[in-house]
Amino acid sequence: MPGGAVALVVAAGRGERLGSQGPKAFVTVAGRPMLEWSIEALRASPGVSEIVVALPAGAAPPDGVTAATGGETRSESVRNALAAATDGEAQVVLVHDAARPLLTAGMVADCLDALESGGGWDGAIVAAPVSDTIKRAPDGQAVAETLDRNELWAVQTPQVFRRAVLERALDAPPEVLAAATDDAMLVEGAGGRVRVVEARHANPKVTTPEDLALAAQLLGAG
Ligand code: C5P
Repeated sequence: MPGGAVALVVAAGRGERLGSQGPKAFVTVAGRPMLEWSIEALRASPGVSEIVVALPAGAAPPDGVTAATGGETRSESVRNALAAATDGEAQVVLVHDAARPLLTAGMVADCLDALESGGGWDGAIVAAPVSDTIKRAPDGQAVAETLDRNELWAVQTPQVFRRAVLERALDAPPEVLAAATDDAMLVEGAGGRVRVVEARHANPKVTTPEDLALAAQLLGAG
């Protein structure tokens, strides 16, 4: 249905730390390509009107999604995917990393509900409270600071934003886009109000072979 949220799945990373043959999003996890798990959750989400996937060069898109070409950086991939969206009526954009295959329709709904929860939010992002004590050690050795754990959240995807706000935030200089590790960072930098939404279940990012094994175990058990 046009006018829902456009979901952008960024799947164009090379995944060098995984050591796989091909691109990370197409590595098999619990019996199917990693990307397919996220697509299935988005297809099951009534609030999502269109799914756009930013793909590595030469990769075939899953059935029924809009394909976009990945960029040099994650932010460029997001920008390309948003530019490829055909649902011009959609006022909300969801961004999700294909590297997080534990996405569920429940998590998508939590984000979309949080955006409309009152408070004039421009963005709502899934995150988990941290359980470790976090210290800064900029040179890799000497501890410079211990942060207050009670205030800290480990940020994940999905992240949802008002479309106009995200479009403005992505219209940033290349060096700002290259330094951004998530989209909320760009929206915050542009003055947007972003809230966290506690992840309702484990939602790890697959970076290393150990992460892949954990994701396969969690998906297999689900
Ligand atoms: O680099 P990282 O693992 O944090 O990437 C997060 C997500 O961004 C992954 O799903 C990856 O495929 C995607 N990505 C992308 N284009 C890039 C770099 C990363 O779509 N140039």
